Amino acid sequence: MDSFRYPLDDIRARCDIVDVVSSYVALKRSGKTLKGLCPFHTEKTPSFTVNQDTQRWMCFGCGANGDVFSFLMRIEGLTFSEAVEQLAAKAGVDISHAAKNSRSAGERDLILRINSLAAVYFRKALERSRVAQDYLRRRGVTAEVAERFRLGYAEAGWQGLADYLKSQGIRLEDGFKAGLLIAREHGGGYYDRFRHRLMFPIFDVQNRVIGFGGRDLGDGDVKYLNTPETRVFIKNKTLYALNFARKSISEQNNVVLVEGYMDALTAHAAGFDNVVATMGTALTNEHVNVLSRYTHSAVLAFDADSAGMSAALRSAPMFEAAEFEVKAAPMPEGDDPDSLIRRDRSAFAELVSNAVLIPDYKLKMITDRYDTTTKDGQLAVLKEAIPVIAEVSRQVERERLIALLAPYHPNYRKGTVPAELHIRQEVEARIAKTIKTVKSSQKARTKQVKPPDRINLLSEEGKAVRKAERELLGNMLCQEANALDVFREIPPDEFVSDDAKSVATALYQELLNTGTLDMDALVATVAGAPGERLLGELLVTGMEPSDIPIADLISTIKIYHKKEQEKRFRALAEKIQRGEIKRTDKEFAEYWQLVRELHI
Ligand code: UTP
Ligand code: MN
Repeated sequence: MDSFRYPLDDIRARCDIVDVVSSYVALKRSGKTLKGLCPFHTEKTPSFTVNQDTQRWMCFGCGANGDVFSFLMRIEGLTFSEAVEQLAAKAGVDISHAAKNSRSAGERDLILRINSLAAVYFRKALERSRVAQDYLRRRGVTAEVAERFRLGYAEAGWQGLADYLKSQGIRLEDGFKAGLLIAREHGGGYYDRFRHRLMFPIFDVQNRVIGFGGRDLGDGDVKYLNTPETRVFIKNKTLYALNFARKSISEQNNVVLVEGYMDALTAHAAGFDNVVATMGTALTNEHVNVLSRYTHSAVLAFDADSAGMSAALRSAPMFEAAEFEVKAAPMPEGDDPDSLIRRDRSAFAELVSNAVLIPDYKLKMITDRYDTTTKDGQLAVLKEAIPVIAEVSRQVERERLIALLAPYHPNYRKGTVPAELHIRQEVEARIAKTIKTVKSSQKARTKQVKPPDRINLLSEEGKAVRKAERELLGNMLCQEANALDVFREIPPDEFVSDDAKSVATALYQELLNTGTLDMDALVATVAGAPGERLLGELLVTGMEPSDIPIADLISTIKIYHKKEQEKRFRALAEKIQRGEIKRTDKEFAEYWQLVRELHI
């Protein structure tokens, strides 16, 4: 395989897994390992674990595990070679020889390089442009902020950037692939996409420029133009300013979402460090996924009637399913966060801290819409509010909302209890109806066969064996126990559980074939086999000598086998007595084999 030509150990030695993972996951030390929220599934308590000694990671929630390369592959959606090349570049390891024939990684890197060149070019143009500088001054953007966000200016001409890229040895079709140039419809050639615009580089969490947003400085129809989707710019999961905000988001355990580039920039300039922008698109599941690496609590500082806010209101169940707590802090009429912060910084701070949960916000919007002093108005409110409460999945939350809605019930004057009771009945009826429709549409899909239960491994005794096997393998991996000695006592196929057997078998083969223990080779052998997860776990948290003597671990497994054999012997003996086994049956031979082994 190609990949073996990469100097993987060299790269690994210079790219500490903790550094790499920390760009994406807030890690806290916990004993010998570091822990954080798993970026690969939604969770609220950290089960994602990194071991700096072994340079491996494992999520004890979803089972995903691996090394620094596989982490980057999964989180950035890269191929193996792409991950290797990215880390090699970071570590300053030259892999040009090995990488020569890997085209796709080349394309990603090339786009990133072109973006970075363009950012420098735009920055220089800003330094030369009176118009652009005046614009920044008018909008109150200081030189420091412009520098930090690497703002730039795209000149009004048609090929300033194209010429510059050419002068840097970049082929124009690659500039096109980066989304910076547009192909002419007639006559061939390329011209600049961004013209006479203030340029906002968009960064990924590793501070690399993945795209641009450009604000028109003239009177064009399109106020903001963005890089189209490229190999490196995927708008649906990109959040502007996340690179600046991620640390503070996890420290404050809260993120404030705004819609615009300027909103994010002004917020950061004013010291609101946990602000990111959705760049005008609706907040997607992908965004929520990205954010859930840092927090599960968000405030939407959107315009009350913006597309972003109404989309977010519609996606309330999606947030709830991701265990996300989302609040709304609608901006006052005529303001966006940028203008509000500039006018009255503390008013913005107050709005954010008084934000209300999405269902509460929806209820408020409904009650505001009607004249709730009339019975008609109250009935209209109830009709719209009940579905809102019904889509909330947690019962405690529904009860809270029912109490909130009760004062708008026509019977409220007669007492809280009957009003709440009636609302609750309506809500429950609505839920029952929804469940019925969902169930009937799912029926066809739920006919899956359950795997046979492995009862004996779930018993107390079974658990003890599993634990012993695990510890034994851990001891063998860290070479506290001599693996070949252990295998003389317990051959690999006498490990009881499937995953331990699979790790033991791979370990045994590896030792026989090479005489040494190479963790990478071991991981590669077990990949896709039942032991994949167990090995991942062991490499992250199990590589320590255990308190229990190795001889005891071995005898736990042996005793277990002996008991299993005795059980089997008794079962066979009964069958023979009942005349159910003939002399020619396999089971008859098995019976006599057991008699010999058990010395009966
Ligand atoms: P807004 O129209 O609210 O602009 O779009 P803004 O952020 O207040 O911009 P300024 O203050 O006038 O400079 C919000 C966001 O929506 C995206 C951009 O990311 C913008 O920041 N957008 C808007 C576009 O992508 N294209 C557009 O044409 C307009
Ligand atoms: Mn604005």
